[in-house]
Amino acid sequence: MEQIRSIRSLREQLVSVRRSGKKIALVPTMGNLHEGHLSLVKQVQKCADYVVVSIFVNPTQFVEGEDFGNYPRTLESDLIKLENLNVDLVFMPDGNEIYPEGNNVIAEVTVSELESIYCGEFRPGHFKGVATVVTKLFNIVQPDLAIFGKKDYQQLLVIRSLVENLNLPIEIMGSATMREEDGLAMSSRNQYLTESERQQAPILYKCISEMASAIKNGESDYEKLEKAAVSSLKKAGFKPEYLSICDSETLKVAKNQKIVIIAAAWLGKARLIDNIVV
Ligand code: PAF
Repeated sequence: MEQIRSIRSLREQLVSVRRSGKKIALVPTMGNLHEGHLSLVKQVQKCADYVVVSIFVNPTQFVEGEDFGNYPRTLESDLIKLENLNVDLVFMPDGNEIYPEGNNVIAEVTVSELESIYCGEFRPGHFKGVATVVTKLFNIVQPDLAIFGKKDYQQLLVIRSLVENLNLPIEIMGSATMREEDGLAMSSRNQYLTESERQQAPILYKCISEMASAIKNGESDYEKLEKAAVSSLKKAGFKPEYLSICDSETLKVAKNQKIVIIAAAWLGKARLIDNIVV
């Protein structure tokens, strides 16, 4: 497994791979790899000949006061996991390689409305940071294919939108959320939960699953469902940021059959997000 830190070496390495006609896939990550990330790698390996995993804790997607400094960095064990999966190349640049201009980021990518609603409302600037770093990674690696987890549902929509609107010749795959046995969506930030919060955490998934069942059984008063779920979450000790039944492609008011339930809530120091496409 190649381990590369500089853009120049990465490009040199990929010249011959591309020349040999191999289909290149990119799995962008911020490291601290869990089963969810590994499932992205396994899934994309079935569709590509050469898999690049990037590990970069992207400062520009952390909003002021967030956990950029404390975000778990576990490079050594990440590399072992990727080696075991026969990943072809790991790209692990440092901050200066991606942002040589430091804090004065010069060119940024914005994705209109999607950027300021739901997670974007509560984390202003977050999606601009994501869209910018993902565009940079796409330009650096020039993959044929890239894969992202569906747990970050809004992020996946932002990325699909930027690829479509900037005419990037990259196929975007979404991969099903990996869950713990009790239903909690896997996330690096689950580590912030205390033992007792960890017991409570699956309630978020339980709530949105119950909403999904109600909708499937014909309930059409979405506001009532949302209010009831927010109140259950509060009772269980969560601080919900949003919980909404919306259109699965635009995240606007749900008007037809394409529905997603999206939710974000704090439990202690962990901000948990989850969703279900109904
Ligand atoms: O989902 C993530 O881990 C990050 O947002 C991503 C896509 C790697 C961009 O930094």
